[in-house]
This record gives sequence, structure tokens and C-alpha cells, in this order.
Amino acid sequence: MHPLIKKVLVTEEEIISRSKELGKEIKKDYENEGAPLLVALLRGSVPFLAELIKHIDMDIQYDFMDVSSYEGTESLGDIRILKDLDTSVKGLNILLVEDIVDTGQTLRTVKNLLMSKGAKSVKVVTLLDKPSRRVVDVQAEYIGFEIENEFVVGFGLDFNQLYRNLPYVGVLKDECYK
Ligand code: IMP
Repeated sequence: MHPLIKKVLVTEEEIISRSKELGKEIKKDYENEGAPLLVALLRGSVPFLAELIKHIDMDIQYDFMDVSSYEGTESLGDIRILKDLDTSVKGLNILLVEDIVDTGQTLRTVKNLLMSKGAKSVKVVTLLDKPSRRVVDVQAEYIGFEIENEFVVGFGLDFNQLYRNLPYVGVLKDECYK
């Protein structure tokens, strides 16, 4: 374990096993209408996207958006589009891939944006959900793990751009925030 990690909340094995379940569920739900376009939000959702797509037994395509305005440990209300999609979403079923739904502001902004660009539907799959932090009323259709109100790192999630490569989700020691 990384020396600065206080505790592991979700292990690599648990993430793989839950991704397999989600992949099966997604395939079942989209079987009739065809595979959705997966839209992953940079940079945090990359490891989860990579794990999840292995377990969706369909011909999947994916694209990336960067909407982050996140600094330190507090989500900011003001979200900017830093990188837009290369693919047109007009008439497509979109499955947004998120690392974590916290206040829900990112999700609401991106969902609205994709709908305004003519997407047929927008659903959300997230590795983690922190429902106690929600300030806007949005909900992911597919949730890996619900967690308490704690700042977490690993499996894509960072603190000042570090710890994204940890193969598990954990909590940093208090000394990291001093
Ligand atoms: P929201 O717009 O408040 O839902 O924030 C979502 C984004 O905030 C996520 O995609 C993460 O980048 C970041 N975030 C929220 N909570 C955490 C956390 O516990 N650790 C690391 N990043 C987080």
C-alpha cells in the first residue's frame, strides 16, 4: 500500500468484480437499441473507462471531454468546457462515464450540454457516488460504489494531480492536507 494512504475503501478486486456486473447490466439495457457512445470525462474517469469497457460485450466506441474546474478538495460551482468531443452526439445514445458524482454539478452541466447538442439519451455510469454531498438533483443510472463524505484518491481520482494511478480507492493521511 502507498505510504500516504490511511485506509483503502474499495480494493482493485472489488472494482473489477463490480465492473463486470455493470458491464452485463449495460449490455442488457442497450441490447435492443444498440451500443451507446461512451463519453468519458477527463482525467479521472480514464482507469474506470478502461476497466468497464472490457466487460461490456458490445461494439463500443468512446470519446473524451474535459470539463474540470476542480482544485484541491472542494468542487467549484463554475464548470468550464476545456476539451469538447470529437464525435457528433446528434441522435446518439450517450453513456457518460464518471469517476465520482459529488455535488452533481459536473454531471448536470454535461448532461444538459449533450442533450442540447441533440443526443437521443444521456445516461450515467460512475465508479463512485457521494450522495450526501449532492447540491443538484441528479442521479447516475449505474453506480459502482456509494461512499461516505470523505475525500478519496486512486483509480483515477487525484489530490493535486497525484495518486490517480493507485489501483484502489483510498483515503490519504491527514498530513497530506497540511
Ligand atoms: P461534482 O461536480 O461536484 O459532482 O464533482 C465531480 C468531480 O469532482 C469529480 O469528477 C472529481 O474530479 C472531483 N471530486 C469530487 N470528489 C472527489 C474526491 O473525493 N476525490 C477526488 N476528486 C473528487
